[in-house]
Order: sequence, then C-alpha cells, then structure tokens
Amino acid sequence: MKKGLFIVLEGPDRSGKSTQAAMLRDWLAGPGRKVRLTREPGGTYLSEKIRAILLDPKSEIEPLTELFLYETSRAKHTLKVIMPALKAGEIIISDRYTMSTTAYQGYGRGLDLKMVETLNRIATMGLKPDLTIVFDVPDKVFRQRECRGNDRMELQAASFRLKVNRAYKKLASAPGVTRVNAAASIEDVHSRVRSAVAALLRKKGFGTR
Ligand code: TYD
Repeated sequence: MKKGLFIVLEGPDRSGKSTQAAMLRDWLAGPGRKVRLTREPGGTYLSEKIRAILLDPKSEIEPLTELFLYETSRAKHTLKVIMPALKAGEIIISDRYTMSTTAYQGYGRGLDLKMVETLNRIATMGLKPDLTIVFDVPDKVFRQRECRGNDRMELQAASFRLKVNRAYKKLASAPGVTRVNAAASIEDVHSRVRSAVAALLRKKGFGTR
C-alpha cells in the first residue's frame, strides 16, 4: 500500500516546471525524509530511450504512435520508479505525468479523450497523484523564453501549442489540482508552489517544513 506522497508538476513547454521541480525538491529534502525528483517521458533507462525518440526532430511519429510511446514510457516509470518509491514512504516529484497526455495528445492532437483516459489508467495502473500543480502561462511566454534549441514537440505549429495551452487552463480547475501563475518571478512561483505543497503535507500528516 502507498505510504509516500506523489506530486506532479504540469504545464506548457517553457513554463519553468523543471526549475521549480528542483527548487521544490531542495525545499522538501531534510533529515529523515527521502525526496526523489523524476520526469516524463523518462525516469528509467528504457523510458529515457523512448524520450530521445519522442523528442528527436528527425522522428516521424503519427499521433496514435506518439500516444503509445508516452504511455509505454509511463508504464515502465510507474512500475519501476514511482510505485516502489511510494511504497518506501518517499516523496516523489514528477515533472509531468498523465495530464500531459490529456493536454498534448488528447486536446492538442485531437485524439479521443476517452481513449487517452483509458490508456492513462492502464499505464498508471490507476495510480493518481496526491497533488498536481499546473503552471499557467500565456503563450507569449513560450516565444519570449529562448531555450537551448527546439526538440520535436517544441517545433510543433503555434496552433498546436495554443490548443495545449487552453487545455491546461481547463484541466487546472479539476479536483486535486492547484493552478499557479507561472508568469511571475521564479521566487514568487516557488513560494506559491511551497504553500500548495505545505497544505498537502499538513493534510497527509507529513509535518511541514
Ligand atoms: P519536457 O520534459 O517538459 O521537455 P523540456 O525538458 O524540453 O522542457 O517534456 C517533453 C515534451 O513531451 C513536452 O513538449 C511535452 C511532451 N509530452 C507529451 O506530449 N505527452 C506526454 O504524455 C508527456 C509526458 C510529455
């Protein structure tokens, strides 16, 4: 049975999730508490290989194939990393999880949302995050934040990106989900993330930091 805590950070590309995930891990870590940071697609040897295929601009991938690749990476990651960590009482923070598939492959690619939901459930074996934090940013932030080079997903048309962005705004109002305005400064965003996580720790009897 699950004893740890499962926190997921979600949001459009370049919303600053990865920076915030590392800051959250550093804030949470402390004596007697094991905190693990992981990501999707990725998190295991096999899943990182799948990530490389998915993000390679040279890969030609149809929407359905793309969906299965993300779910394959997730099944391995859930079984080999997330579930054992939770069983051992760890706090696990994942940079993306099932909501990404709903936003990108469901709303973005236009695949049937029920099918996406079913595959999400199969790949996770029904595991749900204790808290999902959605980083909400206007699309102009994507254009302003230059990065190391574009991967296959970042090279998608602006219309795809806008669909994903709108999807996140919608998904952020679901139960168990906290929306954070990620257009603010790094410190402000971190402090909002901390309050959401502190509330979860109190609720689950983990003791705050
Ligand atoms: P991410 O790790 O956020 O990329 P980066 O480190 O470059 O910011 O995610 C990789 C890409 O994969 C991102 O564009 C979102 C996409 N993605 C999906 O389309 N579906 C999914 O299920 C997941 C987990 C990610």
